[in-house]
Amino acid sequence: DGPPGGRAHAKAILLGEHAVVYGAPAIAVPVRSLEATAALVPSTGSKIRSALYTGPAADAPPSLAPVLAAWHAAAERCGTAGWASTLTVRSDIPGGRGLGSSAAVAAAVASAVAAQARIVLSDEERHALIQRAETVAHGRPSGIDARAVVATSPFRFQRGAADPIDVGAPLAFVIADTGTAGSTADAVASVRALRDSHPRTVDTAVERMAELADEAAIAIAEADPDALGARMSAAHEILALLGVSSPGLDSLTRAAHAAGSPGAKLTGGGRGGCVIALSLSPDTAGLERALRSAGAVRTWTTTLAATA
Ligand code: MEV
Repeated sequence: DGPPGGRAHAKAILLGEHAVVYGAPAIAVPVRSLEATAALVPSTGSKIRSALYTGPAADAPPSLAPVLAAWHAAAERCGTAGWASTLTVRSDIPGGRGLGSSAAVAAAVASAVAAQARIVLSDEERHALIQRAETVAHGRPSGIDARAVVATSPFRFQRGAADPIDVGAPLAFVIADTGTAGSTADAVASVRALRDSHPRTVDTAVERMAELADEAAIAIAEADPDALGARMSAAHEILALLGVSSPGLDSLTRAAHAAGSPGAKLTGGGRGGCVIALSLSPDTAGLERALRSAGAVRTWTTTLAATA
């Protein structure tokens, strides 16, 4: 049976990152091949074991602050705040890549704490706990990551509400890592600063991204990869205009197009991290090879199954 534990997966944003912070709709997809897990065992004092740090929770480095925030918030909610335990966190979701690693770890920790207390959290309670950690990690998260790391299907997200979307035919995507980390907090802050200095530019970009997200949802429902790819590529141009792309992200999107992908864009906060490219075929090997030759340090695939 093992110790009480929790798990959550990675996510990718297909359309609408950054604009979602200002109330535009966005589309997110679960990436189940990458996972974070957390487990709790009683111990003397509160301790953390992770790839980053192992030792007393009180001496954990600042990078673990979101994990501690999730643990404390969940322990408060579940009545286990005084219990001395060792929290073991494991994640194969690379951090700073726009793949939801902080939200996934927070979700796994919240579930582990609830399991230890033998409490079943409602979806909304769990969401609120993940958001507490996300607020420590990113400042003012829209909440899309907190939904996506526990979602079982793609969804449209707007102002806190997540609704599953229809998928007309199976779709395959390749996610390619530039190898450079990007800070979501910094990227969100830079868009906010641009909005302060150039409100019309950013508001127009947000409106266009909102249209692209809704058009992308229709393209997914209607099984139209060309229409979806065109929306993804248009979104990348807008994100570049907002200053959150990077030379590495631009060159991977170009390589995806050259390899026949109908559309590619950065995913998540940007300024490093990953691109997501739509594959024309369920066999993604050629697209993955092309992205690796263009400098991607690793690639993953994620697929969407057709809804019945
Ligand atoms: C990060 O995955 C998505 C952003 O839109 C930030 C957020 O929604 O909180 C960049």
